[in-house]
Amino acid sequence: MRFLLTGGAGYIGSHTCVCLLNAGHDVVVLDNFVNSCPEAIRRVEQITGRKVALYEGDCCDESIVNHVLDREQIDAAVHFAGLKAVGESVSIPLNYYENNLGATITLCKALAKHHVKRIVFSSSATVYGDSKIVPMREDLPLGECTNPYGWTKWMSERILRDTAYADKDWSVVLLRYFNPVGAHESGLIGEDPTGIPNNLMPFICQTAAGVRPMLNIFGNDYDTPDGTCIRDYIHVMDLASGHLKALEYACEHKGTEIFNLGTGEGCSVRQMVEAFERANHLTLPHQYAPRRPGDIAQSFADPAKAQAVLGWQATHTIEDMCRDAWNWQSHNPHGYRTENPAE
Ligand code: NAD
Ligand code: UFG
Repeated sequence: MRFLLTGGAGYIGSHTCVCLLNAGHDVVVLDNFVNSCPEAIRRVEQITGRKVALYEGDCCDESIVNHVLDREQIDAAVHFAGLKAVGESVSIPLNYYENNLGATITLCKALAKHHVKRIVFSSSATVYGDSKIVPMREDLPLGECTNPYGWTKWMSERILRDTAYADKDWSVVLLRYFNPVGAHESGLIGEDPTGIPNNLMPFICQTAAGVRPMLNIFGNDYDTPDGTCIRDYIHVMDLASGHLKALEYACEHKGTEIFNLGTGEGCSVRQMVEAFERANHLTLPHQYAPRRPGDIAQSFADPAKAQAVLGWQATHTIEDMCRDAWNWQSHNPHGYRTENPAE
């Protein structure tokens, strides 16, 4: 089959490209490179020995999306394209609503016009809000999001559900990711954040590389066994294989289905630091710092539905995630750039 991946040059998209190509599918990528670069796709081709049809363009631009769908025979789309920096979304909310909701609406209209009514959407555990109930199941009532980024996921889910409700030909699969980390085992593709990373794993990697002097652990007075926050970290290649299963499902069913993609195992920040040190035989400078506003004490998935319905299950351990993240970071100290532009 032939799948369109919007935002396919990004972190999760590029790993999903590898997984789909290795499974024998064809991949078409539409990306405006606002947070990625064509080099990621070149490396996907290097890993798989397969070609990717790459289009540079904005998913909010109707004419470009229609152009891609006119030229390519697509069976289903995976919609990764979106802005994802939580803090930035608080500063420039209109850009986030315009880009993330605009891309979802434009893509759906173009897909419908081309009779490709199958979409897998990148949602997030953030839609559960500050749920006190863990593990989180798909049928939990949605929570209040704490930032505009989260609301764009919440609203995109609503838009897609309404679309499938109005037209029964649609197949919509909403994937709620927990905390994706790690990299392809080759070390050729990985997460390439710009500026100071917000997320834990890229910050750990840059600290281990000496780019950052110290990891701050935000809060050690949470109501958790060691006082630090608990998350459900999932290896990006497990996440990628979840997309393959979700696409297969979307091609055989109609209506809307929601799946958590997580391991079901909570891991504290402290446990993650220890696992990283153990997996990579190094010492990570760290200290405790005040809580980060907006953080919740614990978040982890109940992944039973994805296992039962999709036959999908995460297989990588925390040590695998730490090893592969460091393998990528240590072989690509400046990400996809060949040198540090600041130097
Ligand atoms: P990423 O930033 O690496 O990838 C997103 C890609 O979309 C980038 O290549 C970017 O250039 C592209 N893009 C953005 N707006 C676009 C537009 N209007 N037109 C075309 N391309 C556009 O992020 P990621 O971590 O790979 O995340 C992929 C998706 O998963 C995003 O929707 C994100 O919100 C969601 N998600 C990510 C996480 C996470 O922790 N990484 C967690 C939950 C959900
Ligand atoms: N943390 C630190 N130090 C750091 C960075 C993070 O201690 O330098 C801690 C955070 O306080 C949190 C944990 O590590 O307790 C994980 O933080 P991340 O920023 O890596 O991930 P979050 O769970 O906060 O956020 C992720 C995604 C968001 C998404 C959210 C909810 O990055 O996009 O999950 O699904 F909205």
